[in-house]
Amino acid sequence: PEASWSVGAEVAVVGSGIAGLSTALRYVQRTEHGRVVLVTKDRLSTGSTSFAQGGIAAAMDPEDGPVAHMVDTQLAGAGLSDPYTVHVMATEGPQALRWLIGLGAEFDRGDDGTLALTREGGHRADRVAHAGGDATGAEIQRALVAAVLAEERIEVIEHALALDALHDPVTGAVHGVTLHVMGEGARDGVGAVLAPAVVLATGGMGQVFAATTNPTVSTGDGLALAARAGARLRDLEFIQFHPTVLWLGPESRGRQPLISEALRGEGAYVVDGEGRRIMEGVHELGDLAPRDVVARTIARTMAEQDTDHVYLETRHFGEATWKRRFPTILASCLSHGIDPLERPIPVAPAAHYASGGAEVDIDGRTSVPGLWAVGEVARTGVHGANRLASNSLLEGLVYADRIAARLAEVPEPVPDSAVAVGAPVPLVDAASSGRIRTLMSRHAGVLRTGDGLAALSDELDAIAADPAGSADSASTAGSTSTSNSAEPGAGAAPGTDSWEATNLLTVARLVAAAARHRTESRGSHQRADHPEPRPELRIRPAVVRLEGNTP
Ligand code: SIN
Repeated sequence: PEASWSVGAEVAVVGSGIAGLSTALRYVQRTEHGRVVLVTKDRLSTGSTSFAQGGIAAAMDPEDGPVAHMVDTQLAGAGLSDPYTVHVMATEGPQALRWLIGLGAEFDRGDDGTLALTREGGHRADRVAHAGGDATGAEIQRALVAAVLAEERIEVIEHALALDALHDPVTGAVHGVTLHVMGEGARDGVGAVLAPAVVLATGGMGQVFAATTNPTVSTGDGLALAARAGARLRDLEFIQFHPTVLWLGPESRGRQPLISEALRGEGAYVVDGEGRRIMEGVHELGDLAPRDVVARTIARTMAEQDTDHVYLETRHFGEATWKRRFPTILASCLSHGIDPLERPIPVAPAAHYASGGAEVDIDGRTSVPGLWAVGEVARTGVHGANRLASNSLLEGLVYADRIAARLAEVPEPVPDSAVAVGAPVPLVDAASSGRIRTLMSRHAGVLRTGDGLAALSDELDAIAADPAGSADSASTAGSTSTSNSAEPGAGAAPGTDSWEATNLLTVARLVAAAARHRTESRGSHQRADHPEPRPELRIRPAVVRLEGNTP
């Protein structure tokens, strides 16, 4: 479909979690006149950030320091974290957190007024700042949204699914993005933001699995867009599974309630059905081992004992601690009929975080000129094979500022036209989403095998070969253009659920390809047929592109 309207700005930001909101704010703070159009798929306040419980890591304690934070981050990353990007995040982290506090985000404090800091899996120091006990993300989101709404030079377009990048017809650089907007008055239907810089801050892809901590909007749209634009993608096989989501029964699907690792930071521990502590003797940090170790131990215990959940023991906390530190989780448990003061909480692992993404340089540039990425959709190299708890909010905050600084330094004119490039991709029937999710959870979960991944690829290929039932067989991803384009598409805009299914299939195929390629076990990627790490693979990364073998 052809774009029926367009709007111009110096910067287009796609996504409204901590990464997108901070990029927009930092950019306008660094320029006198720069304008940002910030688009978001749902409401401004929707997205993964607001669900973050445990907190945001930064070396703020006098006993701690950026070097110690770097060491813990790299240990969790299982040899694949990039020391330079980790260094940047750890050293710039405290200043970034202070910026957030200056903006009005209110973090929990001790009696002496200093920040209250806790620890989570893999941290050897207290460095996780939290707000409202276990409502850290909600408080961060509140403060950022308020600041964005107060900023005249940021135009917000809600209910806008980003479809594809638009390019300068001469240089090929990204010069905008097409959108499918629902019910936003003048900016309704298919439109475009024309901008010399498009910053993807679309978050993760947890919804490509049957059970995830991610909200429904996390369908990998930014990653699929980057792939279609020809960007290099890296480390996609490293999907982190959170060890403990509230287990709601064998058939539960979609977003699962998170049971924060901060509970284990305060002394909770994982037990099996007989009450045995399963993390004892597994890792020197016990229940606070990095989360890949905990998730794997839980998955193995469940397989050995032929069960689909274990338990988190917290009864020793008592009511006062529960109410003060974890009011959100307490309410969530009670709403599902589980009183953690009376009995251990049933828990199981679920897809949580994509450590890989669109490969970016130290300032957030992808391999495609004009296209930038920040937050979960980006692969900075910080997380390596496994993200350290509470580093994601910090990474988004730090790299948002680096992108804003670079964009403010080199102002570029707002383009007045741009075109779609690349072969159109058939849209996938929305009904395929459920099948894709089931396949991914079955074959690309906590424990993987080469045979399972091969079967997964075959099944996904079959869906791609026959996207039948497509909402509109004439509709294609990648064919949308501005009215100045040489290649206008045809027909009405298909439903956003078809676009989401197309994006889910794209990212599923890319993850499957990357996971097959990595014939070793490392961090959050565990292959039963290759149980050991292979040092030689550290320098042979799986860089995947959307060429030939993927939709
Ligand atoms: C948690 O609170 O357990 C999640 C924190 C994170 O994923 O970083």
